[in-house]
Amino acid sequence: MIQIQPLSRHQSLPMDLLLLADPSKEKILAYVQSGSCYVAFHEQDMIGVYVLSSRSQHTVEIMNVAVKESWQGKGIGKQLIHHAIAEAKAAGFHTVEIGTGNSSIHQLALYQKCGFRLTSIDHDFFLKHYDEPIYENGIQCMDMVRLSLAFQAD
Ligand code: COA
Repeated sequence: MIQIQPLSRHQSLPMDLLLLADPSKEKILAYVQSGSCYVAFHEQDMIGVYVLSSRSQHTVEIMNVAVKESWQGKGIGKQLIHHAIAEAKAAGFHTVEIGTGNSSIHQLALYQKCGFRLTSIDHDFFLKHYDEPIYENGIQCMDMVRLSLAFQAD
């Protein structure tokens, strides 16, 4: 059983978790400041995080989602994404967006299993915006694959 809740003012930012999803501390600090950070707890242990940031009146983006390495593969990531979708719906947004690298096979599978559809590709995004080359699954991460999930707000 896990509990997902907004990060309170008394809790420090789980930078170790956020860095699992994004190698740039600078970028993380920028979008955390303008977004809402949610954390998942198992008892006293913080095991997951996601950040929601509004893009427009109707659209919100999941900027970061990460699960502590020892907890990965147990369905926590899926629960975080479903929680983010529910929060977005409750806040009256119509669309949730998420972006990931062309090399992020696991993430592309997870987001599609949660109902997201592929919408566009931002070619060379990671070559332009990150200093160090990124490799995953033996593939160079070069392009940002953007996905979205649209729903009618209640
Ligand atoms: N093909 C098909 N499905 C796959 C897959 C693959 N190669 N790899 C994983 N999946 C599926 C799982 O089977 C599961 O689906 P199921 O419930 O239908 O079986 C689904 O993906 C979700 O798995 P889950 O256990 O919820 O994921 P997780 O708790 O490990 O969290 C991440 C996923 C990505 C958040 C986690 O691995 C993580 O923190 N990674 C590092 C940070 C990161 O990359 N964040 C995203 C940046 S875009």
